[in-house]
Amino acid sequence: MSPIVAFGYLALAVTALAAPSPQHGNGKVVTRVHLGPRPFWLIDKLEDGPLKKKLESCSEMEMKPTPWSISHRGGGTLQMPEHTFDSVRAGTRMGAGIQECDVTFTKDKQLVCRHSQCDLHTTTNVVTLPALNAKCTTPFRPAANGTSATAKCCTSDFTVAEIKTLCAKMDASNASATTPAAYLGGTPGFRTDLYARACGRVPTLRDFIELVDGLGLQFTPELKTPEVPMPFPPGSDYTQAKFAQQMIDEFKAAGIRPERVWPQSFLYDDLLYWLKAEPKWAKQAILLDESADYGPMEDSVANLTAYAKAGVKIMAPPLPYLVTVKDGKIVPSEYATTARALGLKLITWSMERSGWLNDGLQGGYYYGSIANVTKSDGDAYHLLHVLAQDVGVVGVFSDWSATVTYYANCFGL
Ligand SMILES: *[C@@H]1O[C@H](CO)[C@@H](O)[C@H](O)[C@H]1NC(C)=O
Ligand SMILES: *[C@@H]1O[C@H](CO)[C@@H](O)[C@H](O)[C@H]1NC(C)=O
Ligand SMILES: *[C@@H]1O[C@H](CO)[C@@H](O)[C@H](O)[C@H]1NC(C)=O
Ligand SMILES: *[C@@H]1O[C@H](CO)[C@@H](O)[C@H](O)[C@H]1NC(C)=O
Repeated sequence: MSPIVAFGYLALAVTALAAPSPQHGNGKVVTRVHLGPRPFWLIDKLEDGPLKKKLESCSEMEMKPTPWSISHRGGGTLQMPEHTFDSVRAGTRMGAGIQECDVTFTKDKQLVCRHSQCDLHTTTNVVTLPALNAKCTTPFRPAANGTSATAKCCTSDFTVAEIKTLCAKMDASNASATTPAAYLGGTPGFRTDLYARACGRVPTLRDFIELVDGLGLQFTPELKTPEVPMPFPPGSDYTQAKFAQQMIDEFKAAGIRPERVWPQSFLYDDLLYWLKAEPKWAKQAILLDESADYGPMEDSVANLTAYAKAGVKIMAPPLPYLVTVKDGKIVPSEYATTARALGLKLITWSMERSGWLNDGLQGGYYYGSIANVTKSDGDAYHLLHVLAQDVGVVGVFSDWSATVTYYANCFGL
């Protein structure tokens, strides 16, 4: 068992007495995990063989929360608006042991949970509120004459008080929308709007910490790469380093120990900053890596040596970077074997973002390196099995935490 996983159980036990958070929906420690029908359905769709047998043998097991199961944007994201209390509670009920908040800043330099600095037009109803829409970097413009509808609304366009008035929705937009209301549509068919009409609010990082602390879980905040020039505004003293420090300071102010926090960033400079300025908080810092989306994989693999030497302990590339196909079987990639040889731990993202695996796209981006052997929805467990047993990842992000929690419990992770 990896140290991370061993520590996770300890942390869950130690924090079990944390006070609940009545203000944010009775956040209290979850002792009964419920996985719902999906993992069982996926296993049913898996081809016959030893993996299916083993997974089936766990069907009546009592499931426990595990930090191997990391929520992606709350962990209920497949069906609930991302980065809302609803999504966090759903992911927690489905056994996520670590909860994610992607961290961006507002106009008044408060920190809020959004997947990117400029996604309010696809994750909230902002374009339907004329006074706020007018403040967007690019206010809504309807589709016309063959041109798609557009909008770009950033957290940095608004004060935190303004953002608190928005209603969260499923991340989507309708390119042919001729009205603001129509622009809110477009949720992919494999997701749902069933839970999207309850006006979930956008949490601040502080709200998120309070809720997740009350739930007795660990945290993985991601410092989102700004989409405005830093410092913000130009000429001010709000630099990238200040932003990186502010995220850590919020946890300190809430009395959270660094052992419960896994800070992430795509920016190597942010990792270098934490290693230097906040070494205790950098021990579990995660360097996200999507560099091979923009250049040759060899360059991404080559860079791992420098990252390890600089003190980075955990790399987090997307799923397809860690696996490849050899003789018709999924096997660890060169990226995976090189990282492990350097002593780097691996976390990966994200399960349950791909929708159907048998629709001709074979899982799209996230299954890109194993498309040839991806045939049914059950194959999600083939991938997870190789990641767990052969690559040795210490955690997996998922849009639907139950899928990963089931595997982790079944295999004792
Ligand atoms: C679309 O094209 C028509 C005819 O050229 C023009 O009158 C109209 O203003 C255009 N609409 C927009 C929104 O650009
Ligand atoms: C997209 O917008 C168009 C034009 O407003 C509308 O007719 C259509 O129903 C919308 N589609 C969805 C999925 O919301
Ligand atoms: C490798 O690291 C250098 C230095 O941080 C960076 O400039 C470059 O973009 C990285 N390349 C890849 C492919 O990650
Ligand atoms: C899939 O199979 C084809 C034909 O055997 C091969 O050329 C291709 O490289 C394979 N792709 C992947 C991603 O393995």
